[in-house]
Formats: sequence, structure tokens, C-alpha cells
Amino acid sequence: MTRTSAPMLSLEKVSASFADRNGQLAVLRNISFSVPRGQFVCVLGPSGAGKSTLLRLLAGLLAPASGRILFDGAPVRGPQAGVGLVFQDANLMPWRDALDNVALPLELRRDPDAFDRAWDMLQVVGLRGFEQALPSKLSGGMAQRVAIGRALVQDPQLLLLDEPFGSLDALTREKMGEELLRIWELEHKTVVMVTHDIHEALYLADRVLVLGRRPASIKLDMQVRLARPRKLAVRYSPAFGRMAARLRAAIEVQAV
Ligand SMILES: Nc1ncnc2c1ncn2[C@@H]1O[C@H](COP(=O)(O)OP(=O)(O)OP(=O)(O)O)[C@@H](O)[C@H]1O
Ligand SMILES: [Mg+2]
Repeated sequence: MTRTSAPMLSLEKVSASFADRNGQLAVLRNISFSVPRGQFVCVLGPSGAGKSTLLRLLAGLLAPASGRILFDGAPVRGPQAGVGLVFQDANLMPWRDALDNVALPLELRRDPDAFDRAWDMLQVVGLRGFEQALPSKLSGGMAQRVAIGRALVQDPQLLLLDEPFGSLDALTREKMGEELLRIWELEHKTVVMVTHDIHEALYLADRVLVLGRRPASIKLDMQVRLARPRKLAVRYSPAFGRMAARLRAAIEVQAV
């Protein structure tokens, strides 16, 4: 991996809109921020604010109406090899077992080591012994881990996660968060993750961005200065409580 001092991602006055019956629906307005290499960023905001739209822009699946997005110093013009994406829904191929699902992106690139690498990745995401399980035999959390493995196996520099734990129960979600932190610490990825959960965002991230109502701009850009590695008990510390209150206030002001 080449290491430069340029940020991994930079957004310069980015706006996004969609065509609708009344003309244009402005979704994001004048968004500027940059993400240093290795940073773990969480994005919060009310439903419909444009969080998924922001991730799609970062992934190169959507072009901004104005402004520009740089990935590793170069303008984003389409989907990039160095970017891994995980959506809320694991979206696995039902007829492929866990190993074949993780190997798929490598197979498409005709990587001769596709299955060895996919095998290793399944161990990293904690699915040893489930290599041959079909998606229908996996729990929601396990399927989501396969989806994360499928994104990571391509060794992306940037991992984009859109509410990856949205469909999971609270306990599984907490475990998945810890798992994600473990992988992040191991693989030194840059992460941008959308979540609805303030506590999850604070527990995981180095920095939390709050989007306002549509057309959304950034209402709060907060550094999370909590020591790492983080223990679940940090959620009960006064500093955590104060930051959670600040984030809640920023989101609630928007929700009325
Ligand atoms: N492909 C599209 N065509 C037209 N409008 C769209 C499209 N995608 C999103 N929108 C609109 O853009 C706005 C933002 O959508 P987006 O999915 O980014 O919100 P979100 O913040 O991710 O919401 P949620 O928290 O509910 O997932 C919504 O009003 C939505 O209807
Ligand atoms: Mg969304």
C-alpha cells in the first residue's frame, strides 16, 4: 500500500440531487470534509437526510450535481477497486456457500488464489467451520459477516458501510461492532459507516458527522476522544454520556 500524506477522501462543496415530478429534489448541499487514512468515521442523521446518497457518492455509484470528490488524491468517476461496500442487507448469492460468496469478487478478477484468500477471510470474520454453509443456513449476523468478508477480501483501502447491522438484534449488533473494531485494528482500513445508533457511532468511531435535514449539510463534526482499544464499559463513562447528549441534540434539532 502506498502511503501519502493526502487524505484518503476529500469532499469539496459536494451537492447531490435527484430528478422528481416537481423538478429536482436537492438532497445534499455543500458538503465539505476530508477523511485521513485509517480514520473510522460514523455518519448519523434523520431518515431521508441523504446518508445512503452520501455513501453512493463516495462509492462512485452516483455523480455529484456540483463539487468534487477525491479518493486518494484523484477525482472519483465511477466505482473503484480500492473501495469496499456493505449495504444494510447482506445481499448474498443464495446458491453459493459462504466461501464462494466471499471468493466471488476475486473470481471475477480471475485471481488464482481466490479460494485461499476467501478461506482466510472467513477466519478473520469469525466464520471458521461455516465455509460450506449456504446463506439460508446462516443467522443474520453471520450473513452480514460474510458480506463484510466479501468487501474486505478485495483488500480495499476504504470500507463503506451503510447501516450494516440495521437488521440485527441489540446483542448481536453489539458483538458485530466489536468484531468490526477488531478487524479494523487488524487491517488498518479507512471506514465510513452510516448508522442510526448514537451509542454505536460513539463506541466505534474516531469521528462522528451529523447530517441535517434535506437538503442536508453537516450539522456537527465531532472528534471522539476515547482511548482504544475500547471496552464496552466505556459506554457508561461520563465523557461518553456527554458526547451522546451532544449528538442527540444535534439530531433532534433536525428532526422537528
Ligand atoms: N435513486 C433515487 N431517486 C430519487 N430520489 C432518491 C433516490 N435515492 C434517494 N432518493 C431520495 O433522496 C433522499 C435521501 O435518501 P437517502 O436514501 O440518501 O436517505 P438516508 O439518509 O439514507 O435515509 P434512511 O436513514 O432512511 O436510510 C430521500 O428523500 C429519497 O427519497
Ligand atoms: Mg439510508
